[in-house]
Amino acid sequence: MKSSLVCVSDYEAEAHKSLPRNALDYYRSGAMQETTLHENKEAISRWYIRPRFLRDMSIRSLATTILGHRVKVPYGIAPTAMQRMAHPDGEVANARAAGRIGTAFTLSTIATASVEEIAEHASDTLRFFQLYIFKDREVTANLVHRAEAAGFSALVLTVDAPHFGIRRADIRNKFALPPNLRMANFQTDDEKSSLLNTSAGGSGITEYVKSLFDPSLSWDDVAWLTRITKMPIVLKGILTAEDAILGIEAGAAGIWVSNHGARQIDGVPPTIEALPEVVKAVKGQCEVYIDGGFSQGNDIFKALALGAQMVFLGRPMLWGLACGGEEGAYSVLDILKTELDSVMALSGCATIKDITKEMVIRKEYYARL
Ligand SMILES: Cc1cc2nc3c(=O)[nH]c(=O)nc-3n(C[C@H](O)[C@H](O)[C@H](O)COP(=O)(O)O)c2cc1C
Repeated sequence: MKSSLVCVSDYEAEAHKSLPRNALDYYRSGAMQETTLHENKEAISRWYIRPRFLRDMSIRSLATTILGHRVKVPYGIAPTAMQRMAHPDGEVANARAAGRIGTAFTLSTIATASVEEIAEHASDTLRFFQLYIFKDREVTANLVHRAEAAGFSALVLTVDAPHFGIRRADIRNKFALPPNLRMANFQTDDEKSSLLNTSAGGSGITEYVKSLFDPSLSWDDVAWLTRITKMPIVLKGILTAEDAILGIEAGAAGIWVSNHGARQIDGVPPTIEALPEVVKAVKGQCEVYIDGGFSQGNDIFKALALGAQMVFLGRPMLWGLACGGEEGAYSVLDILKTELDSVMALSGCATIKDITKEMVIRKEYYARL
């Protein structure tokens, strides 16, 4: 990789130079006027780290566990759709990079690589499958069973997308998947996947979602999923204590605090603000994860301090991919590892368990003193 790329924002700037507009806008944008998109990051900076010193930092470890699996770093890859627009190796490259650093990769339902392809090319990677529920429940059940057969270790049900948010850039661009790419988890003819390669006037993704995804999704569907799969179920997109509690009652093994990278509702809380409420409500009954705006090791540190078990990365992995396929993706993960290790060493945390809530404080605290 170019030696001038030393942090995630360097990768982002570089990806902005090389990606075609259709893909760049799809990856970059948030819903409507993108207030939440900016706030996800800004809110992380409202937390300060309270370093402790003189605590023997000679031996350190970033290892932790997720759903009983040991991972070498406390962050993983969030599902993002259609990664082959960023690089010909797409999801395969990201999955392999996750395996190399020793963490989990989540494959989107609307990926440009299939569950079987990922299993074949990233057999050593801890793999999660992100599910969108289709109106046709047989299509949905079939996907779940294929993921299970392909050795995926968890099902991540996205709850925040009964339909897709309004992304103005995609409407302006009449976003469509380039004709050489396809929704790899489906057969083009029988499951309308080619709908995404066209646009009837607005965003092609919105039209695809409207025609195939089920807006009647409810808690009954979560119960149905627990009956049809042995994979643990993680609910992705939770932003309130109320839904976190319902999730636990429905049998979720994990609650993933997310606002879908600010792509659904403009005006929801930044995820780091929603995290403490969810952690409090969950009371340790299941694991809690988070994503949204994390692009530095210090950011990850703050979420761990506030009670997240793992932090997931969406766009940073697309920027890495765009800059150099698997190597670019790996570099992004590796930069975050160096940064997280550094902030741990500098703040007196030799292990992930040492990153407790006393390690962070809100900015306003200092104004009140
Ligand atoms: C281009 C793009 C595509 C996404 N596609 C999906 C998807 O298919 N399924 C899903 O559950 N979330 C999807 N998300 C949301 C991500 O999983 C994640 O919640 C979000 O990107 C995290 O924010 P970050 O990009 O700031 O890291 C997508 C996000 C982006 C940016």
